[in-house]
Amino acid sequence: MTQFKQEHSTREFIFDERDFRFLAQLANERTGIVLAENKQDMVYGRLARRLRTLKLNSFAEYCRLLQSEEGVDEVGQLINAITTNLTSFFRESHHFDHLRDEVLKPIIANQSERRIRIWSAACSSGMEPYSIAMTMRSAITNIGQWDARILATDIDSNMLNIGIKGEYASSDLKDLPAAHKSYVINGDSPAHLRMDDRLKELIAFRQLNLLENWPMKGTFDAVFLRNVVIYFDKPTKLKLFARLGDIIKPDGWLYIGHSENLHGISDRFELIGRTTYRKVK
Ligand SMILES: C[S@@+](CC[C@H](N)C(=O)[O-])C[C@H]1O[C@@H](n2cnc3c(N)ncnc32)[C@H](O)[C@@H]1O
Repeated sequence: MTQFKQEHSTREFIFDERDFRFLAQLANERTGIVLAENKQDMVYGRLARRLRTLKLNSFAEYCRLLQSEEGVDEVGQLINAITTNLTSFFRESHHFDHLRDEVLKPIIANQSERRIRIWSAACSSGMEPYSIAMTMRSAITNIGQWDARILATDIDSNMLNIGIKGEYASSDLKDLPAAHKSYVINGDSPAHLRMDDRLKELIAFRQLNLLENWPMKGTFDAVFLRNVVIYFDKPTKLKLFARLGDIIKPDGWLYIGHSENLHGISDRFELIGRTTYRKVK
């Protein structure tokens, strides 16, 4: 078994092909994420800190730990390390315009129910559900009289903790539309800004693995599942979108990421606009 590429012989920890294959398979089984061969450097980089923290000498030791009884909790740390959490406020802003104009406005016009459910299904550090909450708060002036909820879930516990705290660097919020600035308040330092409680009270953050059981009861008006299935293989996508078809209301909405599509994956959704789908079956 050779260590990857000659230039890596100066690495702090020995990391060979067998270690990579074990970690990639475990990550795939638990998360659906596919780690191709070209992700070896990324995996090394993201896990080297764990090995230092655990005072281990090699990736082989780390793999043994993951297979042992004491290593059960370490699997969560592995998952946190290998997930890619890139996100931003109002990312792919056309989805939020569509949410306001085509989802919320018709529901508001038909005031009979006064109930809205949105799911941010891979919410990372919370910028996506807070953007949804700002859109909802701005669109529904009497929201206190509505049963309006945003479910925000992710597999990564570190990211969820950031979302629950609702504190971000001021640089994260520099492009926030002016209309929403009033939902941001000064945090403990000028560099830190905090999400207003008016947003927090709309959002429930929960840890949820998309591959596992979904404990939610009831259906959603719209689901944001953006920039996550890009990491999954086709069988995982097929199962996931079949289940999504069951949890979105008839005529409800699905938003996916800019480089994703449902071609050959699901015929339960019709493409209506840019990465914007309507449930049809
Ligand atoms: C690139 S971020 C996308 C965040 C946000 N949706 C956006 O578009 O800005 C992908 C997120 O998917 C999460 N993720 C990956 N696999 C998952 C799984 N099996 N179940 C739930 N979340 C998962 C990661 O933890 C990460 O936070």
